[in-house]
Amino acid sequence: MKTLQEKGLYKTAVNDGEVQGLRKWNWPTRVSSEILPENLLGKTVIDVGAGPSHSLGDLIVERDGRYIAIDVNEGLVEIQRKLGREVYQADICNVSKVIPPTIERTHVISHTRLVFMHLSPEKMPQAVHELATVGSMGYVLDTNWKNFIQSASGPRLRDFIDITLDFAQQNGIDLYHGGKLKQLLIDTLGDAYEINECIFSEGIANHYDELINLAQRQMGFFNQNKNDTEIERLKTIIKSFEKARQKNDPKEFFESPHTFHVVSFAEKRT
Ligand SMILES: C[S@@+](CC[C@H](N)C(=O)[O-])C[C@H]1O[C@@H](n2cnc3c(N)ncnc32)[C@H](O)[C@@H]1O
Repeated sequence: MKTLQEKGLYKTAVNDGEVQGLRKWNWPTRVSSEILPENLLGKTVIDVGAGPSHSLGDLIVERDGRYIAIDVNEGLVEIQRKLGREVYQADICNVSKVIPPTIERTHVISHTRLVFMHLSPEKMPQAVHELATVGSMGYVLDTNWKNFIQSASGPRLRDFIDITLDFAQQNGIDLYHGGKLKQLLIDTLGDAYEINECIFSEGIANHYDELINLAQRQMGFFNQNKNDTEIERLKTIIKSFEKARQKNDPKEFFESPHTFHVVSFAEKRT
């Protein structure tokens, strides 16, 4: 079923840099692995905005669960199909329309990671309702750049932050959205649900690998839009990150941009 595509980064074909960058990045699935039950026998995990990675699907299958990938982007849906996944194309606001009616919501766990930060605020309540319509419990994950931006110092990191904040603004991405998730779920779901938040951070360390991954992903979008000035600026930034990664000087260590906020919801039993 075709749906309207979300405005923003994923409205057109997704470039190879983004596909490879998301696949190489392990931290998100390490966080999902911590929060999801060890035994998923009899459970279905519906992953909304699944993207191109195989790691989460593999994890669910290893834990004996059924994995369903949903994405708005046709190319990414195709990638999941080629991985052999059960997959449907839908906007997060229409998930309930594509899920087979034989699947009972009491056995479904909704999961959505790094998706709300790409949504317009007007869509968010409907998106939350959809997650709670298809699953009686679920997890919503987003990153929050607050600690990284506050702790980062030096021209190298500041230049990257400036370029990324501009990029985020132009593409409707809220880099602080992790910190807003809990209130969004409380406001939208109300008293009928238990809502909890967990925050995951990798701590202060040499996070240049992650920054290079991010910078290369941004480069993919700048290449797609033939944005030569930003490409040159990013190339310089990537080179300096590569040097700093190698130098591995603890005095230069910093908080990762990827503090993950995980907000869980579970229907209260009456
Ligand atoms: C940053 S990627 C994250 C992918 C994956 N969840 C992960 O953690 O690796 C964002 C994903 O959300 C999808 N997406 C964006 N807006 C969406 C929407 N309105 N409905 C469904 N998926 C959406 C994109 O196509 C993309 O796959």
